Amino acid sequence: MRTADIRQRFLDYFAARGHTVVPSAPLPTPDPTLLFVNAGMVPFKPYFTGEAAPLWQRATSVQKCVRTLDIEEVGKTTRHGSFFQMNGNFSFGDYFKEEAVAFAWDLSTKPWTEGGYGLDPERIWVTVHHSDTDARGIWREVAGLPDERIVARGDEDNFWSMGVPGPCGPCSELYYDRGPALGREGGPAVDEDRYMEFWNLVFMQYERGEGPGKSGYPILGDLPRRNIDTGMGLERMATLLQGVDNLYEIDETRPVLDRAADLAGVRYGADAESDVRLRVVADHVRTALMLLADGTAPGNEGRGYVLRRILRRSVRSMRQLGFQDPAPGNEGRGYVLRRILRRSVRSMRQLGFQDPAL
Ligand code: ALA
Repeated sequence: MRTADIRQRFLDYFAARGHTVVPSAPLPTPDPTLLFVNAGMVPFKPYFTGEAAPLWQRATSVQKCVRTLDIEEVGKTTRHGSFFQMNGNFSFGDYFKEEAVAFAWDLSTKPWTEGGYGLDPERIWVTVHHSDTDARGIWREVAGLPDERIVARGDEDNFWSMGVPGPCGPCSELYYDRGPALGREGGPAVDEDRYMEFWNLVFMQYERGEGPGKSGYPILGDLPRRNIDTGMGLERMATLLQGVDNLYEIDETRPVLDRAADLAGVRYGADAESDVRLRVVADHVRTALMLLADGTAPGNEGRGYVLRRILRRSVRSMRQLGFQDPAPGNEGRGYVLRRILRRSVRSMRQLGFQDPAL
């Protein structure tokens, strides 16, 4: 199934359950704590904190996200992309844990022919915050999950915040067992490549203050309402449903990877180091494309610098792959990039990608 269908199915599922479909916000965000939107909840932050009255009680979106913190990991792991799309369902003071778990379980396991993703329920594992006995009980009851597939973890893994002061709360993540060929038995605490996280349910109920990183900061108190913020990684779900090894090989990214391989005269799958470079190109070109489409121009600082770095890394990877620029004179790098970007846009369109920003 195409990524476009997986995306639409999510929106249809939640629209049918009273959620308003909200279009993706542009990547550059007015939020002063961030350069780019990096999670589906970012455009809704004022609704969680109580700074603004929510326009809806329930919303759903497929949000374009850029995360460059792990940029060195791109291409090396199976699951980190600098650009990705986060499918989310949100409750602003409406439903809470029980419904959030029930929705996620139902959509994940319902057969494809009935509007779900058709994942095998026996291969789903979940994690909960160690203090969250409610969540454990709900997973048992709603999904019938045995205790050994409900893994308790600490703040580092199962307490979500934006990394800066703002809304936060314990979370529960869904993982899919991709099988013994990909790693050791034992669940997500043992191997996160074999057990791939695909959906995070955040029970947003606290406000955090200033403090280091993801944990170790003070909780200032309760938010005005109890909310739900979820994020299903669209490319990760596509990886699972298309049965490919990693998120650079799904239908929306693979054409870029293949074209990069063609241009460089290498074969994907023949050499581990070249494969990493091809995946870097596939990832970065898409990210650059999305940033350009949303109005970011290369520059020396801030957003522009992120874009410039990503473009440079793509060009460098192509060179390392042995690509000899065929254009004479000073067209050089620009020509390589322009051609790849153009072909990416065309491939995305042909694949049915409906982004209005394109
Ligand atoms: N906000 C949550 C995340 O980004 C869903 O994982």
